[in-house]
Amino acid sequence: MMVEQGVFISVEGVDGAGKSTALSWLCARLAVSRAVVQTREPGGTPLGESLRGLLLSESMDLETETLLMFAARREHLAQVIVPALGRGDVVVSDRFTDATFAYQGGGRGLSFERIEALERWVQGAVRPDLTLLFDVPLAVARERLEARAVVTGEGLDRFESESWGFFERTRAAYLARARADVGRVVVIDSTVSFDLVQEQICAAFLQRPFLGVSV
Ligand code: TYD
Repeated sequence: MMVEQGVFISVEGVDGAGKSTALSWLCARLAVSRAVVQTREPGGTPLGESLRGLLLSESMDLETETLLMFAARREHLAQVIVPALGRGDVVVSDRFTDATFAYQGGGRGLSFERIEALERWVQGAVRPDLTLLFDVPLAVARERLEARAVVTGEGLDRFESESWGFFERTRAAYLARARADVGRVVVIDSTVSFDLVQEQICAAFLQRPFLGVSV
């Protein structure tokens, strides 16, 4: 029997870029033909979810924040991602290390060298095979975020309530990573209708038959 290869997909974008709806759609489509593990960062394990609670609410030093992101990531890799890839599953993570480069690096100004060192230490050779980067101009992201806060009745968390400048830098860092790694990172224009977002996602998989998955 041929064992299918695990595939690691991450989904990224600034808060309000519209990745949540696309994520549920993508996982449902993938699940038609493959075992899918849908997960998220920070989080994905009981310990990771506790760390997420702290990260989204407590103010802390930038290095502490980054180390906690990677501590949660290590647990996530050990408990969830690596075992799932070993079984041949498709792992879809709502955010991964590109978010650290974008938010802690671009947004808050931590050096990329520091983040790269932690990436090597914590992840070894594990990297996403494909990253979908949902991109919208900031004005659209802020509008969506505020509209969602009204609907859910929940306030904005510690990251969501950051300044406009912070999100400009975060978005720029995401886009720079996409330009530097066009084979892995696909920028999805998320300003268009959901039908057209779906088409862009399908195209990303069609262009990568070596992943062995279709949507
Ligand atoms: P997200 O998963 O988008 O939460 P929700 O959609 O439920 O509001 O948000 C988690 C936040 O954590 C988001 O603002 C980005 C931030 N984050 C970082 O700053 N660095 C990281 O490495 C990760 C994974 C997330």
